[in-house]
Amino acid sequence: MLTISQTFVVLVIFLLIVQFLKLRKACQQFPPGPTPLPLLGNLVQMNFQLRRDLLMELAKTYGNIYTLWFGWAPVIILNGFQAVKDGMTTHPDDVSGRMVSPFFRAVAKGKGILLATGRSWKQQRRFGIMTLRSLGMGKKGLEYRVQEEASHLVEFFVSLKGRPVDPSFPLFHSISNVICALVFGYHFSDEDKTFHELISATENLFRFAGSFIYQLYEIFPWLMCRLPGPHKKALSCYDVLSSFARKEIRRHVERGMPDEPQDFIDFYLAEIEKSKDEDKPKYDEDNLVCVINDLFLGGSETSSTTLYWGLLYMVVNPDIQEKVQKELDAVLGPSQLICYEDRRKLPYTNAVVHEIQRFSNIVFVGMPRVCVRNTELLGFPVKKGTIVLPNIASVLYDPEQWETPREFNPGHFLDKEGNFKNREAFLPFSAGHRVCLGEHLARTELFIFFANLLRAFTFRLPEGVTKINTEPILGGTLQPHPYKVCAIPR
Ligand code: HEM
Repeated sequence: MLTISQTFVVLVIFLLIVQFLKLRKACQQFPPGPTPLPLLGNLVQMNFQLRRDLLMELAKTYGNIYTLWFGWAPVIILNGFQAVKDGMTTHPDDVSGRMVSPFFRAVAKGKGILLATGRSWKQQRRFGIMTLRSLGMGKKGLEYRVQEEASHLVEFFVSLKGRPVDPSFPLFHSISNVICALVFGYHFSDEDKTFHELISATENLFRFAGSFIYQLYEIFPWLMCRLPGPHKKALSCYDVLSSFARKEIRRHVERGMPDEPQDFIDFYLAEIEKSKDEDKPKYDEDNLVCVINDLFLGGSETSSTTLYWGLLYMVVNPDIQEKVQKELDAVLGPSQLICYEDRRKLPYTNAVVHEIQRFSNIVFVGMPRVCVRNTELLGFPVKKGTIVLPNIASVLYDPEQWETPREFNPGHFLDKEGNFKNREAFLPFSAGHRVCLGEHLARTELFIFFANLLRAFTFRLPEGVTKINTEPILGGTLQPHPYKVCAIPR
């Protein structure tokens, strides 16, 4: 006779075997991939981490479309430029859903743009794009705001007189002020206490998104939401952003609608008013709060982190920095306002800005999508609800597309005569119907900020510092290790 504990062990083993066989059968419905284990899927093989090199390595065995199981969730990975491009653009609407994971649901509750899916996402996104255009995106109006913030940043570095500084905060401050001016109608001073709280909440959220606890939350949400830990802090950080957004909405309501809407909140409140008598109004305060958070989170951390990498690359490649400066000096006057259009006369500078984005690969492996209907991906039938990950890192580092994918090489974007050359595999903003909504703004910011900074200063390591770490730290975005530079006026 078996004891109770022996019976229990036999039962568990039996259930695991049944689960294993079921999984093997389920695997047949997906593109090939490493064999998953019951409960854990492929997490053990992945060392409980999403690593870009491992994802690219697996493609050598299983091909450019394969399946990985994150616990009990199968995820189809698209690897390399061709697979990502075809997967995202052949049936773009079919793969336009967002994976609303437990953590995403806990913060945004399916509202807003970035973490929403289906009809609501479509409406909020369409309205978001239209409104940003009305506020000057893609036109001179917005470019002027970018120029203004870039010149504040130059003044800040001038005030340091070459003393060493970690440029992370000043870059974040200036970049996020562009989006704050658009959304809230004003920008923050660098001593503003509320602004510091918002930055610290944003940093915490991005750091959490790269942590092991985050992975645990996504796999065992029912357990994690009952336990204390960093996930509680991350949730409260999202609340800090939401409370601020609500306070700003209240301020706008109390101030009353001006004759012409002045900022994003004015436009959105007008839309709420217009649609309030509809059966199911599409625009409401909860959606507005999440859209504000999406624009603030999406529009601050990304461009500023790219520039943070950019200054680091200039410090470790002084010859490239010098070549950019020579080109800027030859084409621009010392106090001429730099426009986005100037990139056409500055092919080398433009190539360097593109290479900074390619090489830093800040969005790491990109954001997961979900199929909104049964579809086909690169010849494989895929069911509605399946998660798809277009691996952006594998595109930006694709050895078939880039001559020296693992080297910082502005030549990737130049032809033999030194003219700027667009590259199809340059997809840092992803592709298809969910392509980054702020792409144009981000490109304008990166070019104008970078050109202004390099025209005014030479960036160098502080005296006595000879080594600098260029490996990324994994978070919601790939960040450089903190570093200090001296901005030496030219
Ligand atoms: C260097 C800068 C940036 C990079 C590399 C970047 C990259 C990305 C990527 C990869 C996505 C996911 C697309 C997908 O689902 O496949 C995305 C989405 C998004 N980005 Fe950006 N982004 C940048 C700047 C910005 C800026 C400045 C804004 C603000 C205006 C912004 C707002 C958004 C929003 C709202 C989404 C969600 C779009 C959707 O789900 O429909 N981003 N971005």
